[in-house]
Amino acid sequence: MGQYSEEIKRRRTFAIISHPDAGKTTLTEKLLLFGGAIHVAGAVKSNKIKKTATSDWMEIEKQRGISVATSVMAFDYNNHKVNILDTPGHQDFAEDTFRTLTAVDSVIIVIDTAKGVEAQTRRLMEVCRMRKTPVIVFVNKMDRDGKDPFDLLDEIEEELKIHVRPLSWPIDMGQRFRGVYNIYEEKLNLYTPSKQYVTENVEFKDINSPELENYIDPEQAEKLRSDIELIQGVYPEFDVETYLKGDIAPVFFGSALNNFGVKELLDCFVNIAPSPRPVQAVERVVDPEEDAFSGFIFKIHANMDPNHRSCIAFVKICSGRFERNANYKHVRFNKMMRFSSPTAFMAQKKEVVDEAFAGDIIGLPDTGNFKIGDTLTAGEMLHFKGLPSFSPEMFKYIENADPMKAKQLNKGIEQLMDEGVAQLFTNQFNGRKIIGTVGQLQFEVIQYRLLHEYGAQCKWEPISLYKACWIESDNAEALDNFKRRKAQYMAVDKEGRDVYLADSSYVLQMAQHDFPDIRFHFTSEF
Ligand code: G4P
Repeated sequence: MGQYSEEIKRRRTFAIISHPDAGKTTLTEKLLLFGGAIHVAGAVKSNKIKKTATSDWMEIEKQRGISVATSVMAFDYNNHKVNILDTPGHQDFAEDTFRTLTAVDSVIIVIDTAKGVEAQTRRLMEVCRMRKTPVIVFVNKMDRDGKDPFDLLDEIEEELKIHVRPLSWPIDMGQRFRGVYNIYEEKLNLYTPSKQYVTENVEFKDINSPELENYIDPEQAEKLRSDIELIQGVYPEFDVETYLKGDIAPVFFGSALNNFGVKELLDCFVNIAPSPRPVQAVERVVDPEEDAFSGFIFKIHANMDPNHRSCIAFVKICSGRFERNANYKHVRFNKMMRFSSPTAFMAQKKEVVDEAFAGDIIGLPDTGNFKIGDTLTAGEMLHFKGLPSFSPEMFKYIENADPMKAKQLNKGIEQLMDEGVAQLFTNQFNGRKIIGTVGQLQFEVIQYRLLHEYGAQCKWEPISLYKACWIESDNAEALDNFKRRKAQYMAVDKEGRDVYLADSSYVLQMAQHDFPDIRFHFTSEF
């Protein structure tokens, strides 16, 4: 097809998602080691937002500053270009993660074998399901005692609402862990419980052969044979197409800390994971292999230095080739712009690049021109969809604490919202501004940044709200009637869309019952 086809086809852009502590950072680091992107363990770890620092915003700020460079980690592996998009580990930044998921073509989910499916994984999987993102599951920490693998697979199917197909199978666990049988490659991967050791790989097509006992205990061999038989009987053959449609998730078992099963995961991943996929714009579907460049902003990272209010806007390239110093259209402004210092992320370094292709992420230095969701093109008026806002979990009124600085406050709020730090709803009844977040920490972030970057002071006042629902109806009269009846609870979001603020789940249920013509949505795109 297009002239950049070869470059684009070899790209694999993905994110690793997990509940905190399941082993995302450790796995990322091991993948980077295989890709030759780093040479010592511990390099990624130091960039991680420490879990203990829940309310220490300064500390997080500092660490987030360092983590700009690691927002995207790219490396070459077996003639593939792998782009890993980092997602914040802290759950208060879940909204950031949701948006990052709009920029990836597939994901790897890490699950702790002892803990099974946890809350944050469940929520993130909902986003994947909505977008039909292909997922691979890595069950981590097999060197520890955990749940029975069959039970775990059932749990994954039930909790994550996706069919699974094991492509490797553990031989025992915890202290007796001997490795896995790699069903995908028909190999026996034996485990040496010392860090940074290459695993022993044995070609092993027929596990019914008595030779198996030369490698593992007779008891373990018997168990493995009967497990594999069960798997072949219960689970359908693995089919790449079904995986690519997001209908089945292949499952691998291993131990990231011990570097066990990681290479096998990576080998399978580059083989089966999708290259950049077509992206839906309002106007049409954009194919990655089209020659003309297009992309959208999915993340804006503020500069930590309050004296330079500049940001980095992260662009996911959806089609074609991006070239430094070329003219591209900023669609919202309908204006051509040139970018003289786009940065790309190779390994852990951020450097200016001359070109990048569909699938890649580039950073554009920005001084307030961009909002999350903005589209850039070679000239066409395209608007990429798929960057929904989700109903926040926590709400507070934001009030001005320094009457002399009202202007600064409003500007600050507006810019922070464009950056996607939180969501703003303006109550139509009393005109008060409400900020919605997914965690307490974001309120602290906003207060701190308003003061340090805009010289504005805010104070928070409590409001008891359960959910923000975007509403619509085919029946204009019914909509008007609803808005009148619920006037005190009606607000508009940043884009001016109607939002109903429900103060309890009971009230919401009643509203849904009493107003059947109204559709209530928990995300801003429907
Ligand atoms: P996260 O990014 O998903 O939050 O998890 P992270 O990689 O930081 O891992 C969380 C903890 O689990 C770390 O221990 C890490 O060493 C450990 N871990 C990761 N993979 C494995 C594994 O395969 N087996 C075992 N036994 N442990 C694993 P920590 O004590 O919190 O940190 P550290 O002090 O070891 O750095």
